[in-house]
Amino acid sequence: PELFAPERVNSKGFDLSHTPDLERIEAARAPFETHEWQASSLIANAAQAGQTVAVSNPYDPNQTVGSATLASPQQIEAALNGASAWSEGPAECRAILHKAADLYEEHYGELFALLAREAGKTLLDCVGELREAVDFLRYYAERTTNETPIGTFTCISPWNFPLAIFTGQISAALAAGNAVLAKPAEQTPLIAHFAVSLLHEAGVPRAALQLILGAGDVGAALTSDPRIGGVAFTGSTETAKLIRTNMAKHLSPDAPLLAETGGLNAMIVDSTALPEQAVTAIVESAFQSAGQRCSALRCLYVQEDVADTMQEMLIGAMKELCLSAPWDLRTDVGPLIEAEAQIQISDYVATARAQGRVLYELDQPEKGHFVPPALIDVNGIADLEREVFGPILHIARFKASELDQVINDINDTGYGLTFGLQTRIDDRVQHVSERIKAGNIYVNRNQIGAIVGSQPFGGAGLSGTGPKAGGPLYLSRFRKVDALQSDG
Ligand code: SER
Repeated sequence: PELFAPERVNSKGFDLSHTPDLERIEAARAPFETHEWQASSLIANAAQAGQTVAVSNPYDPNQTVGSATLASPQQIEAALNGASAWSEGPAECRAILHKAADLYEEHYGELFALLAREAGKTLLDCVGELREAVDFLRYYAERTTNETPIGTFTCISPWNFPLAIFTGQISAALAAGNAVLAKPAEQTPLIAHFAVSLLHEAGVPRAALQLILGAGDVGAALTSDPRIGGVAFTGSTETAKLIRTNMAKHLSPDAPLLAETGGLNAMIVDSTALPEQAVTAIVESAFQSAGQRCSALRCLYVQEDVADTMQEMLIGAMKELCLSAPWDLRTDVGPLIEAEAQIQISDYVATARAQGRVLYELDQPEKGHFVPPALIDVNGIADLEREVFGPILHIARFKASELDQVINDINDTGYGLTFGLQTRIDDRVQHVSERIKAGNIYVNRNQIGAIVGSQPFGGAGLSGTGPKAGGPLYLSRFRKVDALQSDG
């Protein structure tokens, strides 16, 4: 199937090695360095709101970034009653979504400030995230049709891509003609509020897109009401199971669930791999975004013959990583999203340390919810009990004769999101990629940062339901008649 419409290319973004681009970003971001945002639910029929909570900066937890007023049960009821799909035709929907993409691009200063201060995103991640959000808007805009929408969609999105995934789900549901109730992660309400304001400004009707702020109880209410026609969810596998149960009890049996969940992602490096290329790919895949990506590398397999050298080079590269303020250009690894995550993952590393399995770890910065990148020795992926959502990389060694066993062990986790392979043997690329069960397989490069339109993103098994986001089949699940195809 075609990727982008012929005239369409992905958003250009910014070149962080280009001084004029950097100066532009700095000038646009500076006015929002100490700004405090106020967010509330955006519901078509007003009703009394719930409690207001402060939002703090993960790098500087004493700094308030703003406040968010959570939705009350009355507001949720008003939103469910007031939801109404837009009556504009596909051409107008398309124009409005493109207009929203233009507004996102214009407001990069405020968006970057929000991404850095509310979500702890580095500048590199800010640029990537805005590009992806804009790409989703334009990609789905080009796919609006006259087919029948499902009705009202609940879109529940995660804090790790508070702009891109949030926007991707919403724009897909809207492009297919549905009304949307958007429930962003409780950690990132400010950026969600700002994004929905831009979508409304672009012309999306208020009854077609409502923002509902809150925690898990709000998500539960929005996935167990028969007025909901379908759910798009990105987050943990556990939460996806709860949603599936809610839907089975209360929604029509036809209601689709599009879930993108976790991964236990592996990379195999064989003895023919280019060491420098492999190390760069490993460091980016495991530590960029502080490892807070569902695509991130968790378990590295290195062929025994080159393992000592690779490990030494990898530790050398880890020593160079800079942990500092997200908006500082030198920063490679920012803070984790919140104290709870920091405590949980620090405890995990402490246990491994006590067992003598930590091969290397960086020092703890003085402030911020940081967990320093760490390298942990394991026998294989079966030693990983769960997805550790931070900058923690596990490393295992294998013999050439054990390659198929390694592939089986990776498949046996039940997850299937991303996978990386570093090799210079063409037959091996074919052998491994034919056997590994993963939605996105990357060869001789990093395994994060899928590009809308050219690398549709999503997994199978415990990693999600498909179809892949940013791919040609995604919108089919938001429409009444389901295309029974596979997007490979
Ligand atoms: N789409 C993102 C990536 O490819 C998901 O984490 O990294």
